[in-house]
Amino acid sequence: PTALRVALLGCGVVGTQVVRLLTEQSADLAARVGAPLELVGVAVRDASAPRDPAVDRALLTEDAEGLVRRADIVIEVMGGIEPARSLLLSAVAAGASVVTANKALLAEDGPTLYRAADEAGVDVYYEAAVAGAIPIVRPVRESLAGDRVRRVLGILNGTTNYVLDQMTTNGLGLDDAVRQAQALGYAEADPTADVEGFDAAAKAAILASLAFHTRVRIDDVSREGISSVTADDVAWAAQTGHVIKLLAICEVTDEGVSARVHPALVPSGHPLATVRGAFNAVFVEADAAGELMFYGRGAGGAPTASAVLGDVVSVARHRVLGGKGPAESHYAQLPIASPQEA
Ligand code: NDP
Ligand code: HSE
Repeated sequence: PTALRVALLGCGVVGTQVVRLLTEQSADLAARVGAPLELVGVAVRDASAPRDPAVDRALLTEDAEGLVRRADIVIEVMGGIEPARSLLLSAVAAGASVVTANKALLAEDGPTLYRAADEAGVDVYYEAAVAGAIPIVRPVRESLAGDRVRRVLGILNGTTNYVLDQMTTNGLGLDDAVRQAQALGYAEADPTADVEGFDAAAKAAILASLAFHTRVRIDDVSREGISSVTADDVAWAAQTGHVIKLLAICEVTDEGVSARVHPALVPSGHPLATVRGAFNAVFVEADAAGELMFYGRGAGGAPTASAVLGDVVSVARHRVLGGKGPAESHYAQLPIASPQEA
């Protein structure tokens, strides 16, 4: 069978692990897809910068626009709104399927990309955009599509969970803990997105959109991050049998769909209190299914690359066998409750 041409946009923490998995598992992936996956190029900002030895330097290019036009599948792990949005729109216009981990883009302007993909008859998959390795997008987008989801709640940011954990157990200051999270590859390029809750809010917007079949943007999410959480707060919480966690809560209320992100006191015996380091946990409540719980690594190169590769296999299978993932441009528009002061 003809090889599927794969273009990778971005080769940082996540992209490097995507290259490694694509290379190490190429025979298995070809067998699962029914065709080989050929990595045809890796777009970066600076092609002369040092890279992990897993990356074949001959594949590096600074011409991302040219690269997406010669691919069947485009994987976007560069981050940011532009040029990622324009590149993905070019990709679907040229008939390529898209896999992205870019929650900031999807929470800001996902519908433009979804519409373009539906018109072009190609897939946009984004499991890695929410909660790293945890399969949560697909369960909410597909498995629960026949149920009525009432609530989605949990820890959606690995960096802040790691930071709060370090403050609680090792007495680290916020800035030192953030620096550690950056070194471990958990943080966004600008860690303010993590610390101030923007990243969790983007993920909450994506999950609320899928869970409630409506369009929730990041600006619809009430947001408070952890920058005002002090060592004294953490110590007081511990003395009273609690831990502080940054929670995302999405639900349907009488006023409409509501989504918020804020630090919360969680009793030490609660399952969310046991979520350590950069792990995430998500609870989903649906009418027929009842309560569901998802748990795993929420950040980091390899866990995120696992979710990316799963999507690559899905969209590649569609190209080989026919078919397409769920269309997303046909949402009902439920009212959105105005964001409250968190
Ligand atoms: P990094 O900052 O480590 O890597 C970004 C990569 O994109 C770099 O290789 C960079 O090139 C390249 N890049 C950035 N801007 C451009 C541009 N304008 N043109 C060409 N290349 C560009 O980010 P991460 O790997 O951590 O994250 C990537 C994406 O994955 C983001 O959307 C992030 O939100 C998401 N994500 C990250 C997770 C994580 O744990 N890190 C988890 C889940 C999602 P160069 O190397 O030359 O600078
Ligand atoms: N910066 C994000 C986090 C990466 O810490 O959760 C995973 O989306």
